[in-house]
Amino acid sequence: MPSLPGFRDFYPADCALRNTVFAAWRSTAQRYGFVEYDGPPLEELELYTKKSGEEIVGQLYHFVDKGERAVAMRSEMTPTLARMVAAQHRDYKKPIKWFSIPQVFRYERMQRGRLREHYQFNCDLIGEASLEADVELIALCIDTLRAFGLNEKDFVIRLSDRQFWVDFLKSKQVPEEKWYEVFQAIDKSERQPREKTTELLGALAEEVLNILEHGAASERLDIVENGLKARGLGDYVKRDFTVVRGLAYYTGVVFEAFDRSGEFRAIAGGGRYDNLLNNLGGVDLPALGFGMGDVVLTELLKQKGLLKPSTASIQAFVVIPDEAFRAEAAGVLQTLREAGIAADMPLSPAKMGKQFQSAEERGATHAIVVDAEIKNGKVAVKTLADRKQDVVELASLVAVLRS
Ligand code: HAM
Repeated sequence: MPSLPGFRDFYPADCALRNTVFAAWRSTAQRYGFVEYDGPPLEELELYTKKSGEEIVGQLYHFVDKGERAVAMRSEMTPTLARMVAAQHRDYKKPIKWFSIPQVFRYERMQRGRLREHYQFNCDLIGEASLEADVELIALCIDTLRAFGLNEKDFVIRLSDRQFWVDFLKSKQVPEEKWYEVFQAIDKSERQPREKTTELLGALAEEVLNILEHGAASERLDIVENGLKARGLGDYVKRDFTVVRGLAYYTGVVFEAFDRSGEFRAIAGGGRYDNLLNNLGGVDLPALGFGMGDVVLTELLKQKGLLKPSTASIQAFVVIPDEAFRAEAAGVLQTLREAGIAADMPLSPAKMGKQFQSAEERGATHAIVVDAEIKNGKVAVKTLADRKQDVVELASLVAVLRS
């Protein structure tokens, strides 16, 4: 039986890739002073229905549990984060800089780059209203992608201003309950025929399309762009008012990362959501963050040849030429493992050639041959790359392998 559509099996090679991605995510977040947190994969349904917006609520995996609670698998991390911070914010110095790598679930229409589960690197900064925080967060998003070897020719951060659109809609006396529809029409304008967007926007169409094509003034975006230039990251961003974000809770500067070729779906997305903590937890704290999924990122890195996980599972393979020395070989193996060296030996009798083949297939750099010499406290160490062999004192074996 195969896995469910949109759900992945992670065979060891896939896990190795995933670990490479997670390691780069973690180390970049830590370089920016972010600390890791986690939350539950199952939450009360209401946490999402309250503020995330129709699009994501329509994609929820939800059910009634045995205790008659309406629950949902997390479709994103932000509501959980808002709930956690609202509950204990007094215990943490501001600004709070937290990251997490949750697996999230969305019942989406299946398409390239969009599955029904994915891992999403989330970085959020809470308790700082200044636009320097927006700069910091976007710089982190850029540096995360740079950590994989991608540069400004490979990807671009499209910067926009949700507040600009809110001010625009207010000036046109559009009632608040209609905003989300307009945002959805703008968000999808690139992927939809112009007539469809015009139809969705109605009386606003001409003016909105003009802004989408020619841009508009935004002091907030000027400040953010200058801040990124000051950090030497100006070439990574481009102003683009079509970005409004699918989620309902954003309030200020918003952004999405795309590959330059335009071939893939969004690599990352985020922005400011200054009212969410108040709406979900009654705590008035400004906040902003982004999420970066593993699916599109991995596709892009594979295409660019930038994802090469090590296939080596061990450093040393203990070869047993004569079963009479199996007990001594096991002793050598244990010594290596206790010294922190990844090592293995054949678990049943095998021909020498077969054992050396196993050593190579497992990615070992050295084969340790345990034969009669062990009685004199010696083993043969063969370097597999050049086939050179040295006889080494058992007492110095670990040091030799470490060097
Ligand atoms: P989002 O734009 O819905 O934002 O998702 C962020 C990223 O997750 C996307 O750019 C994409 O890389 C990935 N992603 C989303 N859906 C899928 C899917 N079905 N399959 C594969 N990858 C996917 C959020 O979720 C916000 N909560 C991010 C955020 C954090 N905003 C503030 N803090």
